[in-house]
Amino acid sequence: EKGGYEHFMLKEIHEQPKAVRETMSARVAKDHSAIIMEELKWNKEYLDSFQKIFVVACGTAYNAALVGKYYIEKLVRIPVEVDIASEFRYRSPIIDDRTLTIVVSQSGETSDTLAALKESKRLGAKTLAITNVVGSSIAREADQVIYTWAGPEIAVASTKAYTTQLITMFMLAMYMAGIKGTVTPERTKELLTQLHQIPAQISETLEDVEPIKTFAKEYGFNEDVFFIGRSLDYAVALEGSLKLKEISYIHAEAYAAGELKHGTLALIIEGVPVIALATQKNVYEKTLSNIKEVKARDAVVIGIASANDSELEKYVDHVIKVPETDELLIPILTVVPLQLLAYYAAITRQCDVDKPRNLAKSVTVE
Ligand code: M6R
Repeated sequence: EKGGYEHFMLKEIHEQPKAVRETMSARVAKDHSAIIMEELKWNKEYLDSFQKIFVVACGTAYNAALVGKYYIEKLVRIPVEVDIASEFRYRSPIIDDRTLTIVVSQSGETSDTLAALKESKRLGAKTLAITNVVGSSIAREADQVIYTWAGPEIAVASTKAYTTQLITMFMLAMYMAGIKGTVTPERTKELLTQLHQIPAQISETLEDVEPIKTFAKEYGFNEDVFFIGRSLDYAVALEGSLKLKEISYIHAEAYAAGELKHGTLALIIEGVPVIALATQKNVYEKTLSNIKEVKARDAVVIGIASANDSELEKYVDHVIKVPETDELLIPILTVVPLQLLAYYAAITRQCDVDKPRNLAKSVTVE
């Protein structure tokens, strides 16, 4: 059942090219000119009626929602607020019939997410679920559903659900942009052509595991690990740190790189591993100065960069490169080495990878 892999998590990490391909198939026009969402059939009038979008979720799905906010705001120019489901329900969110609430849930059974969905509906919002389980409670409750076609995810640590959620968020934003006319046809073609290459590029990323295994062995017994990045890299840093703490029990924190100076830099001392993501052009130089700040405190820095980057390696101890793609899509690639790092760190520490202590696959209690 594990298909020759030692753990479900490793199997599911390796299933990502297929999961992403299946989630995309039938939704990307053959000539890469548009995204087709048969399940939505939205029009401009419907979209124009939304003044605000909420994206609500828990855990990894919340981390995917943060990327979704970036996509929708950048490509569609509608304000998006992301919230943790267990917070959202208790803070009297400002919702009416000009609100769209998107909930994201792999299982479709997370009780806080389901409750947030019901609360949104009660207040008059239109609702959309992004879920991996057909006929799940969240799928049944929402007005509309987009399924991720990741296939069953067994390991407690979410991997292929996350990458398919990112792909879905991206396709949704592009679909909305197509209706609103906020992205030019040329740019659309460029982005969708790059999107088409993502599954093969994930496979490429999966081939290069040896350096990751080495890092995991080297740093697997450290007490603390920090992840830093800006913009989309920060969202991926959050997911990388969640993966690491969840299955390897290493204390991991993700920080927006620019926030370090506001407190966390005090924790950066000699030998502390810092994973620094630096893939976003408009904040690249800023991230580089943050990397120099941690290097000046003798942290050990592992940089995550795009294949065309020849700068980062001058400032960090090791670099892991992912294939070149548009910087909007690169989170789908940069998360892969972070998943592998968490996996091999857990192996180094002899943790129960698929069933980490205290955690359940689906949180159906509050
Ligand atoms: O099934 P859901 O996507 O609603 O689950 C949400 C979280 O419980 C889940 O992502 C959790 O954080 C994972 N164990 C993370 O790997």
